[in-house]
Amino acid sequence: MSQPTLSDVCQPLLSANPVSDLAKVDLDEDNFVHQPKAVDISAIYAFLGCATPKAWLMAAQHDLATIIQDHANCEKKAAGTAMNLIFRYQSYASLQQKLAQLIREEMLHYEQVMALMARRGQAWQHLPAGRYASGLLKHKRTYEPEAMIDVLIIGAFIEARSCERFAALSEVIEDESLAKYYRYLLKSESRHFEDYLALAATLSSQPIAERVAFFRNVEAELITSPDDELRFHSGVPSWLS
Ligand SMILES: [Fe+2]
Ligand SMILES: [Fe+2]
Repeated sequence: MSQPTLSDVCQPLLSANPVSDLAKVDLDEDNFVHQPKAVDISAIYAFLGCATPKAWLMAAQHDLATIIQDHANCEKKAAGTAMNLIFRYQSYASLQQKLAQLIREEMLHYEQVMALMARRGQAWQHLPAGRYASGLLKHKRTYEPEAMIDVLIIGAFIEARSCERFAALSEVIEDESLAKYYRYLLKSESRHFEDYLALAATLSSQPIAERVAFFRNVEAELITSPDDELRFHSGVPSWLS
């Protein structure tokens, strides 16, 4: 008799939770997907102020180890940021529910990227954070509830940019299994973008369009201006321009 795989063991447990998209994930023994479905991310292209520059894609292809290491860091940070929001804003039920699911998914991604690194024989490397998240967060208003709304809008931009970059990378990298994994991530990361944006819109007593437009410009500037470091969310590689 053959040994049960991880998916045999996990699927009944995952299926027991109707709110989780994890139930629909077809996992193999290493916690990876078999075949991702095509995802429409046109809303993300419409939301962002610019596309990823070709120079970044070129630099990323030449240093995938740095991109993968920073991706692992980003998954962990995404979960940590959401956990901080859950503790800070305990009276918002919709925020608690959406971010609890998001945290589970980001930690699953974190495990998957660590497994991916092990498969590639890539050792963990300390990689300091780039300028991207801090470049957005420095514009956060300092009083509530506006501070919360800004963090939610920033979260929407970070998730949207992640999604756009996974899609762009999946089209140019030669490693088909890595490209497949990046395509698999589009579904959850595009939903995270929608969840952050919907939370900002519903929890704000004011229309958020002006703040969204403000952060769209800040984010596009971080993506299209020269950057001395290569990171998952870095700008135009200064050494290529
Ligand atoms: Fe993620
Ligand atoms: Fe995410």
